[in-house]
Amino acid sequence: MTGKVIAVVLAGGIGERIESHIPKQFLKVAGKTLLEHAIEVFEHNKNVNEIIVVTHPEFRAVTEETISKNKYAKTKKVVDGGNTRRESSFAGIKAIADDEAKVLIHDAVRPFVTDRIIDECIGALDSYKAVDVAIPSPDTIIKITQAMLIDSIPVRRYMMRGQTPQAFKVGVIKKAHELAAKDKNDEFTDDCALVLKYRLADVYVVKGEEKNIKVTYAEDLYLADKLFQLKSRDVPKTIALTGLKNKVIVIFGASRGIGESILKTSRSYGAIAYGFSPENGVDIRSPGQIEKALQEVYQKEKKIDFIAVTAGVLRKGEIETRGIDDIKEEVDINYIGSINAVKAGIGYMKKSKGSMILFTSSSYTRGRALYSVYSSTKAAIVNLAQGMAEELSGYGVRINVMNPERTATPMRKENFGEEPEDTLLKPEQVAQASLKTLLSDLTGEVVDVRKDY
Ligand code: CTP
Repeated sequence: MTGKVIAVVLAGGIGERIESHIPKQFLKVAGKTLLEHAIEVFEHNKNVNEIIVVTHPEFRAVTEETISKNKYAKTKKVVDGGNTRRESSFAGIKAIADDEAKVLIHDAVRPFVTDRIIDECIGALDSYKAVDVAIPSPDTIIKITQAMLIDSIPVRRYMMRGQTPQAFKVGVIKKAHELAAKDKNDEFTDDCALVLKYRLADVYVVKGEEKNIKVTYAEDLYLADKLFQLKSRDVPKTIALTGLKNKVIVIFGASRGIGESILKTSRSYGAIAYGFSPENGVDIRSPGQIEKALQEVYQKEKKIDFIAVTAGVLRKGEIETRGIDDIKEEVDINYIGSINAVKAGIGYMKKSKGSMILFTSSSYTRGRALYSVYSSTKAAIVNLAQGMAEELSGYGVRINVMNPERTATPMRKENFGEEPEDTLLKPEQVAQASLKTLLSDLTGEVVDVRKDY
């Protein structure tokens, strides 16, 4: 991929259809405004160099405050939009001097755009001057007249629904807008339509995603909230484990299974790793024992970069027949134990701008019969990490949750017996994914580890 890449995030609308007191891009979903969610995808994408936000003049101050509060490094310009989306888009493009650059124009109200979509758009601009993003239409599309009569029904197989971003070589889209500004027809709702109208280039189509929704109506906010709840990440693949050299990592629950594997794998890449478990006097239920362990490591190494909390138990049984003390113990180890460890670790993490990981299971999205206590503690862990990620973001401290598929650990074998080996993840695979996550700049994410990882 070549050329400078600039993202123009359009936030200049007033969101009439959603009937809210403020424009929809400033409404919060899952702890952040839609605008923040959209900007952050581009901030984190490695191929995007700069971001321009187009805002409504009345909301310029709010927009600028959003950018400075979050310390967005790539978001360098805020420009005033116009009365229509086309005018706002043109305002953003005019702020780019380099006609050879690549521009991605994106709706601020599409918070679920993915790195895959962005990267494919940027890549396609090496061969095309204009790129759209679209998904197949499951519904038949009908073209109507003003009198609400069907004019025609195009063959569905060729119908797709347009999304954003739309991507262009700057010179091409600038020219399209200059022509459109002189045109009487102002019904354009997207930028590719302009390039087509003035026959400036072929427009290539990159596959979008169903979840890349545009928040338009009030119902979409509920849907967006649910989609955020289910959102998870893949393991950041491009991270090299050689980055572990001389990093100090503390693992709680390191005597077996995934914890033991993280200990060994991190050492093999040159990390200084300390493992704790009841076997060497650190029970995750004891804040005092945890604090002492961390203090000892810090005194010796003068820093702690990473903390991994893998300690956990799974006890099967119906709630009605299980003893309450047994249930409390499970909650204490799985949930309070993780809180104990991260609470004691925060101070060290602030000093090193470090990173922590906790562990959940695929059962966190829906409770499972016979291990509802386990699955509910795993739901709590996800919620805890999301909240803590927000609390700690101002300190440069990250916290994520690993969500491995079924893994060949002693705990799994004790509860589910022998299972065909090739259907299970190996603890070493989970360890590698965990260490890559610790080294990444992700925070507040559930990171899925799958067998094909
Ligand atoms: N947009 C813009 N400037 C405008 C109109 C729209 O920057 N004058 C932006 C919106 O902020 C939004 C994107 O274009 O991010 C998609 O437009 P749409 O969903 O139609 O937003 P609104 O125009 O705000 O909504 P509505 O049509 O309901 O008023």
